[in-house]
Amino acid sequence: MFDNPALILNTATTPSGTINWKSPSNIALIKYWGKYGVQFPRNPSISFTLENAFTQTILGYEPKTNQGDGISLDFTFHGEENEAFKTKMVKFLESIRPIFPFLNQLHLTVKSGNSFPHSAGIASSASSMSALALCLCTLEDELFQTLQDDTLFDKKASYVARLGSGSACRSIYGGMAAWGETSAIIGAANEYAIPFEEEMHDVYKNFHDDILIASQGEKSVSSRAGHALMEGNAYAAPRYQQANDRMQQLVEVLKNGDVETFGKIAENEALTLHALMMTSDPSYILMRPNSLKMIELIRDYRATTKHPIYFTLDAGPNLHVLYPENIIHEVRPFIEEQLVPLCEDNMWISDWVGEGPEQLDT
Ligand code: PMV
Repeated sequence: MFDNPALILNTATTPSGTINWKSPSNIALIKYWGKYGVQFPRNPSISFTLENAFTQTILGYEPKTNQGDGISLDFTFHGEENEAFKTKMVKFLESIRPIFPFLNQLHLTVKSGNSFPHSAGIASSASSMSALALCLCTLEDELFQTLQDDTLFDKKASYVARLGSGSACRSIYGGMAAWGETSAIIGAANEYAIPFEEEMHDVYKNFHDDILIASQGEKSVSSRAGHALMEGNAYAAPRYQQANDRMQQLVEVLKNGDVETFGKIAENEALTLHALMMTSDPSYILMRPNSLKMIELIRDYRATTKHPIYFTLDAGPNLHVLYPENIIHEVRPFIEEQLVPLCEDNMWISDWVGEGPEQLDT
């Protein structure tokens, strides 16, 4: 869709430069789980873009002196060389050369870092791949002036981010973003995400999503392996149908502000995601005992106080606690007194629906 063999440089006149983007993570309410082809989703998904959990990536470029064919990259993460991350990035950059053929002609320097500790067990692929995709689209535009149209720029950045990590395509937009074909949202596509903000009821615009770190450990099963296991999962077909039906229901409550139904769908989606992992072959469990304790406490607190506080989960043990801004003063003491002591090293991140990526000065 975005392959472009014409994007070749005259290196004799190519300048050097630096590009700096900060891009957030996102939390899905309808979960993407199961894929086909090159990162196409088996079902539609929709997410809140976060504000405080982000990656900052600085991309430096200069014309290569020796015009070998490979990707030439220096890479540091939080100021230190990281061979594992670098190898992954080189592989990814190689795979997208039909989109950005000029990558062969440049020497690149990538300096990347997250706002949250790498060890926190928070999925960083959405923020890191979206930050990199944004840097690459800005690079194309600086060199060829081909992405002056903001809508086209975002679409291409989302497309490229998707190739790096499916869920990353939704991080390009502030507020909410939807990805995957669905009749519930006009324009929704498998190739890239689209923003959903315009139709969102006010109550969701500053919704909170506090991230409670139940365990900081590395995941025992990567999401790549998890997606692959959906191919043999007995519940796969009904799950994809369910996700489609839920998209319709959720879009309705996102428009009308019915927070109770919103919370019911969000919790059920989280538990469905983990149920799919538990029913895969081989089966696996990513929740930890304290994840379940926190879920019980949230449900008890809700039943007692009638406050609209809900949870969702990523493909990991950490709880995302969802609640509207107007109950923050009641909910915060509950979180700090009852949930935070269940977190590893008392670690948690106060987060909320954010405004999306930002290009920073270099
Ligand atoms: O983007 P991936 O391939 O790491 O998949 C992540 C999928 C979930 O985070 C579990 C759900 C989602 O839609 O973000």
